Amino acid sequence: MLQIEFKLAGFKLACCSAFFAIGIHAAPAFAHGDVAPQAVDTKGLEPLGKEWKTTNPYKDNKKAIEIGKSGYAQNCARCHGLEAVSGGIAPDLRLMPPDAETDAYFAETVRKGRTRAGTVYMPPFEGTLSQEAIWAMRTWLNSIHTK
Ligand code: HEC
Repeated sequence: MLQIEFKLAGFKLACCSAFFAIGIHAAPAFAHGDVAPQAVDTKGLEPLGKEWKTTNPYKDNKKAIEIGKSGYAQNCARCHGLEAVSGGIAPDLRLMPPDAETDAYFAETVRKGRTRAGTVYMPPFEGTLSQEAIWAMRTWLNSIHTK
């Protein structure tokens, strides 16, 4: 394996090329700063319990649109763009089909995040965001769906 050595004031650091590869791939995740995920206040929405729904229970719900919009701004905008207009580092979520089949895919992706070949492209939000908050975001995104 390729070894690169730095000699600094008597210290010697050896790093393999894999280290650099990880550093480079992780970079997009921090492109808009390392903002900690935030819980979203979902007061005013019908509580959903522990069991995860497979379709959006808040479809077209006005309160959910409002809560989802601010929850998105706090947790997703740094990668997916302000008002969900993507700057190119993550997919434009306005383009997701607003159909029931895509509901489960959306919730699953947000809960688990996205890791490919050991690189975290999107962090998992399960444990930070409630089921209510995630469906509220889906409801807001559907309200601004673009073809
Ligand atoms: C650290 C950056 C980052 C954050 C924060 C982030 N995402 Fe992502 N997201 C990504 C990237 C990058 C992808 C594409 C991953 C891939 O290529 O596999 C993605 C993919 C997705 C997808 C799948 C899109 C598709 O078309 O298949 C959804 C849905 C999604 N994100 C929703 C969200 C939501 C909702 C939030 C906020 C709760 C969020 N993401 C926060 C970076 C992020």
